[in-house]
Amino acid sequence: MNKRSEFSGRLGFILAAAGSAVGLGNIWRFPYLAAKYGGGLFVLIYIFFIVTFGYAIMSSEIALGRMTRLSPVGAYQKIDKRFGFVGVIAVLVAALIVPYYSVIGGWIFKYLVTYASGGYLEAASDSFFVDFITAPAEPVLWQIAFVLISAFVVFKGVKNGIEKINRVLMPALIVISLAIAFYGLTLPGAMDGLAYYLIPDFSRFSVEGVLAALGQMFYSLSLAMGIMITYGSYLSKEDNIDRSVRHIEIFDSGVAMLAGFMIIPAVFAFSGGSREALGAGPGLMFITLPKVFAAMDFSSLVGLGFFLMVLFAAVTSAISLLEVVVSTLCDRFGISRTKSVLWTTVFVIIMGMPSSLGNGIWSHITILDLPILDFFDFVTNAVLMPLGALFMSIMLGHFVPEEEMEKEMGLVKKGKKIFYRIMIKYVAPIFIVVILLSSVLSTFG
Ligand code: PHE
Repeated sequence: MNKRSEFSGRLGFILAAAGSAVGLGNIWRFPYLAAKYGGGLFVLIYIFFIVTFGYAIMSSEIALGRMTRLSPVGAYQKIDKRFGFVGVIAVLVAALIVPYYSVIGGWIFKYLVTYASGGYLEAASDSFFVDFITAPAEPVLWQIAFVLISAFVVFKGVKNGIEKINRVLMPALIVISLAIAFYGLTLPGAMDGLAYYLIPDFSRFSVEGVLAALGQMFYSLSLAMGIMITYGSYLSKEDNIDRSVRHIEIFDSGVAMLAGFMIIPAVFAFSGGSREALGAGPGLMFITLPKVFAAMDFSSLVGLGFFLMVLFAAVTSAISLLEVVVSTLCDRFGISRTKSVLWTTVFVIIMGMPSSLGNGIWSHITILDLPILDFFDFVTNAVLMPLGALFMSIMLGHFVPEEEMEKEMGLVKKGKKIFYRIMIKYVAPIFIVVILLSSVLSTFG
């Protein structure tokens, strides 16, 4: 049996995990949620969840991976035979997310190339986005390009592929975001947006906002998808998990905040302070922002930088999902990495096509009343992920011996151990049930 690959050190691991965590959620959801639910107030609630519940789950997942040196299915089985299915759910979530995530990755790619060839006016025109995504062939080709790039990185391996690319892309992402954010803040009217984003507004406090913070935290940290278990299985025994998790969380929340600085003041400046202009999701990124960029002095440059940065965020997340599937195939079936990457790539490309076609020629096909892409998003994020997370927290909190877990995580102080136990045993399962109920209700409510 081959020796398991390892990250070259703590920094490589932190950047790879941060690369997974920093994704579309940070860029197109966090700023919107923060602005909607009370600005600084939402940020505070979000950070509270990050350092309590998020911290406990992320540390346990990484510890579980390193303890067992296996990808999710094997890792769970090794702890308790009956829990192998939790690993299966995690891998299934990853395998079902990458295909449609890659469809969106393809759109980002298309925009990047449009800006690179000077097409900032075209990108800002009213029908550009809809015409593009409803076409049958073109979005599929961009999706395939996105998958091939991500798969190539995974093919190169943990140290020479995943770690290497994150070491370059993550710092680059920060530099580009800072540049765009600073430029955005110099625009006339930007300060009103900044105030709207940051000043805590207690009148906008709502239970809905608290739930949104909880769900966002969970998704943003890439929890319950087997990612942290898999990356943890490549972490050297010498590295301290507790400290690494703190750094990953600071990185992830920092980029989410930075995305708000990039987006909210600029949208405000462009729309003359209209709050309605600030949406979330594809509408914000592919329709509103290109219009905002077109109104700026350096349209091409800002658009190019922005989509480059988003592409970096999306590729590094897609890689982490692919790695879960690839390493599971290698571990479970003993096939080579090359074969495993090949099969995974074929699967992801084929599975992604319906999600892409569902925007155009297959738009009449809906499942549970949802378009195909939204259906996969719903099944994975609103149902399977919280469900898997619930079993995961029960297992981590009640079936893995605590001392072993705390030792693996590097917890020494008594207070920290008690805090961790309360979080993982009691708080995590309760919060997860709340996420599960609220996400199902909000989709069909
Ligand atoms: N954590 C990523 C984000 O915030 C989302 C993600 C989803 C990452 C699925 C990997 C896999 O956007």
